[in-house]
Amino acid sequence: MLTNRLMFARDSGLLSLPGSGRLCVFGARSGDDLSLLGADLQVVQTLRPDHDALKARGLDVVTEPTGDFAAALVVLPRAKDQARDLIARAAALVGDGPVWIDGQKTDGADSMIRELRKRATLGEVIAKAHGKLFCVTGADVADWRAAPSRLLNGMVTVPGVFSADAIDRGSQLLAAHLPAQMKGVVVDLGAGWGYLSAELSARDDISELHLVEADHAALACARDNVTDPRARFHWADATTFALPGGADHVVTNPPFHIGRAPDPSLGRAFIAAAARMLKPGGQLWLVANRHLPYETELGEKFVKTTDLVRDPAFKVIHAERPRKKPH
Ligand SMILES: C[S@@+](CC[C@H](N)C(=O)[O-])C[C@H]1O[C@@H](n2cnc3c(N)ncnc32)[C@H](O)[C@@H]1O
Repeated sequence: MLTNRLMFARDSGLLSLPGSGRLCVFGARSGDDLSLLGADLQVVQTLRPDHDALKARGLDVVTEPTGDFAAALVVLPRAKDQARDLIARAAALVGDGPVWIDGQKTDGADSMIRELRKRATLGEVIAKAHGKLFCVTGADVADWRAAPSRLLNGMVTVPGVFSADAIDRGSQLLAAHLPAQMKGVVVDLGAGWGYLSAELSARDDISELHLVEADHAALACARDNVTDPRARFHWADATTFALPGGADHVVTNPPFHIGRAPDPSLGRAFIAAAARMLKPGGQLWLVANRHLPYETELGEKFVKTTDLVRDPAFKVIHAERPRKKPH
């Protein structure tokens, strides 16, 4: 992927970075080998698990770039508007310097090349490992900066966050099946831009509402969308998050993708994390795509599991009494 293309570019003499000055890398993931880019780099990564993994390798990792840069590298995200925004930010950061762009074909690398041909000077395009790596200079893309959008319900979102254009139907179904009374400490695990927490904040008996979200941009939206004083915001990896004192309820629509590939292991890790953080009498409220195989994990981690509803696309599950020891 990125690593393969960088190696190919270096070996064929095409990776020409400025002789001096720092390099800003937007969106590198935990598995990317950035050592080919030299030591003087800063990585902008807003997803907490990748952020932490890159930092653990000794890299300078931030959520917003700091200082001056001679060049930039943008790893294309899936969402097109988010990709345009990152390229506009990179171009503004480096002025006349080069902006390298890397992406899988499935992440729109080819259409980005077509768009940038009209707006920048495009260097040689390296095609390798089902993707493209290329360099642009003088990109005229200031209008690509993304503005937050406001959904019909007044909530703020930004490109790239989960369900940026509308409320997720699965989350809506979960909200409709939550009990009218919920008491004590509630955790919204994978809170996104805060839809479920906004719904929860109508319940008076909740004492604390913890929003746990890995995506820094989504959590920033949630801060705007959930202004309830009981809300606490955690930019954290839900699978390792711990809540001293424990929770009475966990509410979640767990993620079901890692990158592009559907992967139920992340959802299972959310269920295990919920069981860990719930008090002995605690309850989990979960919605998932109907086909996702969570039942075994739920049975191992909870004494009692009830299907509240199944429609053609989703299931809403209520699980009670977390097992604190393996079953
Ligand atoms: C299916 S979405 C649900 C979002 C929100 N609760 C809603 O209903 O609109 C799952 C959320 O989990 C977040 N997420 C993915 N991996 C995570 C992790 N390891 N820790 C915390 N949040 C994560 C995603 O960024 C996404 O916002």
